[in-house]
Amino acid sequence: MKIPPVKGTRDFYPPDMAIRNFIMDGWKKVSLRNGFEEYDGPIFEYLKMYQIKSGDEIVEQLFSLTDRGGRNLALRPEITPTLARMVNQKINALPKPIKWFSVPRLFRAERPQKGRLREFFQWNIDIIGVNQSIADAEIIFTTVDYLRDAGLTPKDIKVRISSRKLLAAVLKSYGVPDEKLEYLYVVLDKKTKLPADTFKQMLAEQMPDKETLNKILQFMSIDSIPELGEFIKAESDEFTAYTEIKTVLGTLETMGVGDYCVYDPSIVRGLAYYTGIVFEVHDAVGDLRAICGGGRNDNLLRDFGGPSISATGMGMGDCVLEILLKEKGLLDKQVPKRQIDYFVACIGHIGNEAWRIIAKLRSMGYSANISYKTGGLSKQLKEASAQNAKNCIIIGEEELKEGKIGIKDMATGEQELVGRDEFFSGLDSA
Ligand code: HAM
Repeated sequence: MKIPPVKGTRDFYPPDMAIRNFIMDGWKKVSLRNGFEEYDGPIFEYLKMYQIKSGDEIVEQLFSLTDRGGRNLALRPEITPTLARMVNQKINALPKPIKWFSVPRLFRAERPQKGRLREFFQWNIDIIGVNQSIADAEIIFTTVDYLRDAGLTPKDIKVRISSRKLLAAVLKSYGVPDEKLEYLYVVLDKKTKLPADTFKQMLAEQMPDKETLNKILQFMSIDSIPELGEFIKAESDEFTAYTEIKTVLGTLETMGVGDYCVYDPSIVRGLAYYTGIVFEVHDAVGDLRAICGGGRNDNLLRDFGGPSISATGMGMGDCVLEILLKEKGLLDKQVPKRQIDYFVACIGHIGNEAWRIIAKLRSMGYSANISYKTGGLSKQLKEASAQNAKNCIIIGEEELKEGKIGIKDMATGEQELVGRDEFFSGLDSA
């Protein structure tokens, strides 16, 4: 009986694994050079952890299970609640600010589509304990630092930055009550994802008053900082949020990544927990789903039973990123191909000598393979090429009697006969 893979899961054959490792190595390298430390948590948590603040969309997408003890659990759809739990658990012992990163495997029962699967990896960077906008700028800088490192230019991607705090203040000034804000966020987040008419209709359902509706639409159409500056009244609640956006964009300009970043009020974010600056990175053409998203959540620890300490962070999945890097031809150039240092080929009856040589090379730190099949030299050399061997060690029955082995440089085709013992004594450990 053939059993197919489960819908939305992923099989990583060696070439896919090479891409996955390339992406993850880049995430880790950039996290470390930006001063983040790595952490991880369990793959499943109590179900109720995700019902607190992640928002309805994520709760509907949970893979939940009951263990033998009758506990209601769920596979992690994000790591942010785990981060909050772990930090709260050791809040007094942890030196602050906390700058942590993680690359968890996550699970969401979404409808599988281009760039969205049921199983994915997500790079997370979070800063806890800094309430200044510089921390938001650092999160965005680190995000761009990776994307730029991977070869993406401002022509390929845009970081779209906005503020929940600004949106909340503007909506409140229009008379929208607090308890309505969360419902409105969900609709406003769909502005660029839905046809304009459908979006307007959905918004009208939440906001039947035509005048307020038009004011909201007008605010949502402001897409530059100077225009926003004209709209905001000094000393209003909106002013603080406006100043934060300006500081973040200014810092990013100073750090040399300003050309990647724009103000965009349509960025609201689907998750319920954001309280300040929010941002997403999208491909410049806008063909794909978001590459990543994040923002400030000053209630994060408090929502999970801890103190009121501010937090800001970002999550980037591997799926859309991989599609974009492939489209831009950046994977072929950069993903390391399989390569082995030595392939050992035998002519005639060599006995155990081949295995002695293989074991010696491996113990010195070199990658080494040998053919499992008995075949002529040309077949073995073909196998060496297929494995992208740098060198081939050719062991011939006659030469071996004199203690000699052949070394073939697979790139140049040059071959020489050398003493086996001299070869090894001249070889440094890898
Ligand atoms: P999120 O917007 O739910 O945020 O996800 C962030 C990113 O994860 C998305 O932009 C996308 O790249 C990737 N992603 C989400 N769902 C899927 C899926 N089904 N398949 C493939 N990739 C997916 C969060 O998860 C927040 N916890 C991020 C965060 C960290 N905010 C603060 N700190």
